[in-house]
Amino acid sequence: PRFCFDVFLLGVRRPSFGIAFDIDGVILRGRTPIGGSPQALRRLYDADGSLKVPFLFLTNGGGVPETKRALELSELLKVQISALQVVQGHSPFRLLVSRFENELIVAIGKGEPAAVMLEYGFKKVLSIDDYAAYFNDIDPLSQYKSWGLKHLYERNYNSKGLQPKYDVYSERVKGAFVVSDPVDWGRDIQVLCDILRCGGLPGKENGHQPPLFFAADDLEYQAVFPAERLGMGAFRIALESIYNCIHSSPLEYTSFGKPNPFVFKNAESILTKLVTHKCQVKETMLGEKCAFGTIYMIGDNPKVDINGAKTVGHPWFSILTRTGVFRGKDNHEQYPADLVVDTVEEAIDFILKKEC
Ligand code: G3P
Ligand code: MG
Repeated sequence: PRFCFDVFLLGVRRPSFGIAFDIDGVILRGRTPIGGSPQALRRLYDADGSLKVPFLFLTNGGGVPETKRALELSELLKVQISALQVVQGHSPFRLLVSRFENELIVAIGKGEPAAVMLEYGFKKVLSIDDYAAYFNDIDPLSQYKSWGLKHLYERNYNSKGLQPKYDVYSERVKGAFVVSDPVDWGRDIQVLCDILRCGGLPGKENGHQPPLFFAADDLEYQAVFPAERLGMGAFRIALESIYNCIHSSPLEYTSFGKPNPFVFKNAESILTKLVTHKCQVKETMLGEKCAFGTIYMIGDNPKVDINGAKTVGHPWFSILTRTGVFRGKDNHEQYPADLVVDTVEEAIDFILKKEC
């Protein structure tokens, strides 16, 4: 059968299509698989468990290194997923390693933001939790917060008292990276305002704002609660509004993640790599050219997933599910998808019928 392989390149049979799955609101809600996602994904593998259809996860979420997320997803979805197949909001941060490799940087967000950055190759990374712990009274509300402080003290204090890993009192923070959704918005906004307006040295006189990066800019996303939850974009708005009220020049920042077209272009080249790995053809021989007839983006957020895929255009084909942010009966008005379905399982059914 022609199944999935109809493009010939350098004599090698290559899949004619690939798939990018959004995670929150399509594959999972919290840690629970939704929309028949495990069964749908299983159809993309051969009986021996090898990958039949090149696919990856293209999420604006994150907070753990891709290697760890791949293991978590494999466990939850009962299929073998490699780190190469996991593209998170913060994955492009690795492109900034050469600029910040040996500079002190602060990583913000839930999970293990510092571990994420260390795995990318940054050398001097502190989580905002650890960084804030080195500055007495930086958060005047910390005494009212019962969570999370014990492990910070265990990690940062020894018999000699407070032992900062780096000389945070004289070494400026050269970059701040919002890796995942911030946990303690009040403390994080306070500490970030300190870092950003004082040129990387909290409590000192004002200085030039160090660069600030956000992994994504989602205003809202679908988690376990029935109504959407505020995402990283909401945190960005809060930080920016406050910073611009207390500082004469406006906050400067860069946001990554969907719907930026480069995220979709990057996904194309990763899907190409997945195929070249499978076919054992040297990547250099194939170059960076996208060889897919169609790449399907299956998402739940019209403004993010569908908008991004539509902006890039060919070879992207957008499929909107009703399991997350979007719940409409018909198509979304402002960002209509190429196809609207109830679940990811229905989307896979459509794709496999069309392609095979
Ligand atoms: O925090 C996660 C959220 O921003 C969206 O994740 O998988 O729907 O792109 P996803
Ligand atoms: Mg989503």
